[in-house]
Amino acid sequence: MLLHGIISTPLPSSIRLKSSNYPQNLTITAQIPTKKFSISDQDLESRGFNLRRSISDLNLDHLNSIFVAVGFPRRDTKKIRVALENTDSLLWIEYSKTERPVAFARATGDGVFNAIIWDVVVDPSFQGIGLGKAVMERLVEELLQKGITNIALYSEPRVLGFYRPLGFAADPDGIRGMVYSRKQKNRK
Ligand SMILES: CC(C)(COP(=O)(O)OP(=O)(O)OC[C@H]1O[C@@H](n2cnc3c(N)ncnc32)[C@H](O)[C@@H]1OP(=O)(O)O)[C@@H](O)C(=O)NCCC(=O)NCCS
Repeated sequence: MLLHGIISTPLPSSIRLKSSNYPQNLTITAQIPTKKFSISDQDLESRGFNLRRSISDLNLDHLNSIFVAVGFPRRDTKKIRVALENTDSLLWIEYSKTERPVAFARATGDGVFNAIIWDVVVDPSFQGIGLGKAVMERLVEELLQKGITNIALYSEPRVLGFYRPLGFAADPDGIRGMVYSRKQKNRK
């Protein structure tokens, strides 16, 4: 399927979600200018925030507690580790004072055409100061640098306004995301 001149495939029909946290599919249709971040790495550092791209020094219990604090269901930390090990691009921000993660985002995909962004979270105590935008800008940039131009995510309705300025559009060309979820099936 062609979308704005980009080879694009909607969400895989086999996708299974354990929760209904991600009700809307957004697909990126515009490219963020490269090397242009709203907050530079240096600015982040001077404010006490370190950018991290590996899970070796990421405390998954701390990450899990952020997921829970923002309303995601608590998940088995061992399973989170497996998910992160199977993640292609991952970015988190550590607050140097506490050495704890305060912002996180990751993307899975085929490494060539498509990627899906998951688990975009900022610790509630650190929301509203640009950290969510900082991780999203860098994650998208990293995917674009890899040549991946079809980037999708699920957005709760209340967060659509966060993703739109980052270049994401809901239902581009009328394309609708469809999700198979056992939870939804059981509701019927
Ligand atoms: C959504 C979330 C990641 C945003 O992170 P954040 O660090 O608070 O956002 P930022 O400070 O980087 O905000 C960047 C911009 O988005 C705007 N913004 C932030 N949250 C928004 C929202 N819910 N709706 C509309 N705009 C929003 C900010 O006003 C800011 O605008 P500006 O660039 O014009 O100043 C964070 O609030 C969060 O973790 N929420 C709970 C978990 C969640 O809902 N994750 C998304 C799953 S779909």
